[in-house]
Amino acid sequence: MTETETRALLTELAASLFTRGFSVGSAGNISVRLDDGYLITPTNSCLGRLDPARLSRLDGGFRHIDGDKPSKEVFMHRAFYRTRPDAGAVVHLHSTHATAIACLAAVGEVAPIPPLTPYFVMRVGRALPVVAYYRPGDPAMEPAIAAAAADARAVLLANHGPVVSGRTLTDAVYAAEELEEAARLALLLRGATPRQLTPPQVEDLLTAS
Ligand code: 13P
Repeated sequence: MTETETRALLTELAASLFTRGFSVGSAGNISVRLDDGYLITPTNSCLGRLDPARLSRLDGGFRHIDGDKPSKEVFMHRAFYRTRPDAGAVVHLHSTHATAIACLAAVGEVAPIPPLTPYFVMRVGRALPVVAYYRPGDPAMEPAIAAAAADARAVLLANHGPVVSGRTLTDAVYAAEELEEAARLALLLRGATPRQLTPPQVEDLLTAS
């Protein structure tokens, strides 16, 4: 995919997330790895109204070289790219149900979203660690996220929201959507005892996907 096509796809996927309520106001940011650097959404931009030509362009060392001022969460995205060679894109949202779980969950533990459905397991994986709260844009979050991301494709930031990586931009967006829906199911079923996928079923999904 050319950089122009990647810019167009990022803008289209971001608008789709916004239109369907996965992001409100100027919340959330999205980045994608290029051959020689990264694209990331500009700070204070609305995911529903991005201009592909004005996306922030970073070089391979995450320095801003072109476009509007980058998201203040570059550290959050960098933590994933530096820790996970398989990460080709990172999506951060404040989507409601995943953020609700991020307010309920114990820091340092795995988020309480059980393996109820196959697509959550296939897209997000087995582990969803909960990282301590940091002020948005606080560079101190980088080592905390990097430590958690070593064994996980996605994390929940306490009282803030999900950060999800994927092999491609589309994969990362799909995973962020599956995470939000799994969080919604987990909250809908709170207090009930739903059937969960068994450990062999989870293993089977992880091996096959
Ligand atoms: P930016 O507008 O700087 O990307 O920050 C938005 C956000 O979601 C903070 O967590």
